[in-house]
Amino acid sequence: MNQKIVLSGMRPTGELHLGHYYGALKNWVDLQKDHKCFFMVADLHALTTHYQDSQIIDDNILDMVIDWMVCGLSPEKSTIFIQSLVPEHAQLYLALAMITPLSWLERVPTYKEQQENLVDRDLSTYGFLGYPLLQAADILIYNAEYVPVGEDQSSHVELTREIARRFNSIFGISVDFNNQIKSIQEKIHQEFQNVNLEELKIRYQQQGSTQAFEKANSIIENSQKLSKDEKLIAKGDLRGSGKMILTEPQVLLTEEAKLPGLDGQKMSKSYNNSLSLRESDQQISHKIKTMKTDPQRMRLTDAGDPKKCPVWSFHKIYSDQKTCDWVWQGCTNAEFGCLKCKEPVIESVISFITPLRTQAHQLVKDKEQIRNILIQGSQKARETAHQVLDSVHSAMGVLNN
Ligand code: TRP
Ligand code: SF4
Repeated sequence: MNQKIVLSGMRPTGELHLGHYYGALKNWVDLQKDHKCFFMVADLHALTTHYQDSQIIDDNILDMVIDWMVCGLSPEKSTIFIQSLVPEHAQLYLALAMITPLSWLERVPTYKEQQENLVDRDLSTYGFLGYPLLQAADILIYNAEYVPVGEDQSSHVELTREIARRFNSIFGISVDFNNQIKSIQEKIHQEFQNVNLEELKIRYQQQGSTQAFEKANSIIENSQKLSKDEKLIAKGDLRGSGKMILTEPQVLLTEEAKLPGLDGQKMSKSYNNSLSLRESDQQISHKIKTMKTDPQRMRLTDAGDPKKCPVWSFHKIYSDQKTCDWVWQGCTNAEFGCLKCKEPVIESVISFITPLRTQAHQLVKDKEQIRNILIQGSQKARETAHQVLDSVHSAMGVLNN
């Protein structure tokens, strides 16, 4: 069983809402079924933007993880941890900083965007410029292969790939690389009689045969004779990059949020258009009753267009086909008012959130237990992280113990 490694994280800067659930958490919960998942509380990332009110970070960590768990993340299936409790993230960040061209960071699109958008925060710091590099370290320190994030983060994963490639090409070739390759090829030849790795490599690199690549890659992975280190060298050589010390991750794009906020924009606490995962029944009912609908429908007698209405997006998630047909019919023919149309949504959202809220209130009573889960998760994360950090340090010639 060769499970792929997955890493993602969230910043503990506010309470979680339905947008987080449909935009990320639901996907995380699915991934933990058949991947080796690491889910991280990105508290150091939160500091890069919220250092002036860092208390909220501390306040939010446990509550955020409680919400993760009530949505279905399980510490038995996934490693759930706090970034700052795994110091290897910061160490790798420092090491990678040595080889990261300044211009690569300056041209990450989120850098200028956020500086322009978040005018009430001081984002003119070195830490904020380094934000995507810290994210690269988060991913590379586990050699994660998949990173589930939204579109807004994909440039950070792209930067991570470039950094991994640059690192491997600078530090991946040792003096006796060619001798190592020769001995690896001989071992493979002994183990799998008729396999010639060099030939497969040439077919891949010169003729672009992905079939040859796949074959060589799986032979390397399945070999009983090669050491772990030799496998990394062989895989790097196959790609033409020197030893593969760091793995280039792939982004697993989460689909565009299917659930908009109450005003039709992206759901976000700062837009005041969100439904929190702990919302009371009264609040849910009140917020949905007052939520925006198709602006063309001023009066009951005006026909509406569900496609222009955020309530319709809620129906598409929560209602069965019959109810959706009823909405479409009633809205486009002005057969009922919007309040009527919202009733089933209110009911469904209440029955979705109630069990989550109840469980959360249960877990809040035992924060010590959550703290322990995070401490244990962080210890477990360190076991993987320190191995990767060791190989990075020794490739760079940094002393380590
Ligand atoms: N930057 C991400 C966000 O704002 C959070 C994050 C930090 C992250 N480190 C990560 C996401 C590593 C994926 C992988 O949402
Ligand atoms: Fe939206 Fe329903 Fe009103 Fe149509 S009837 S505008 S779908 S709330």
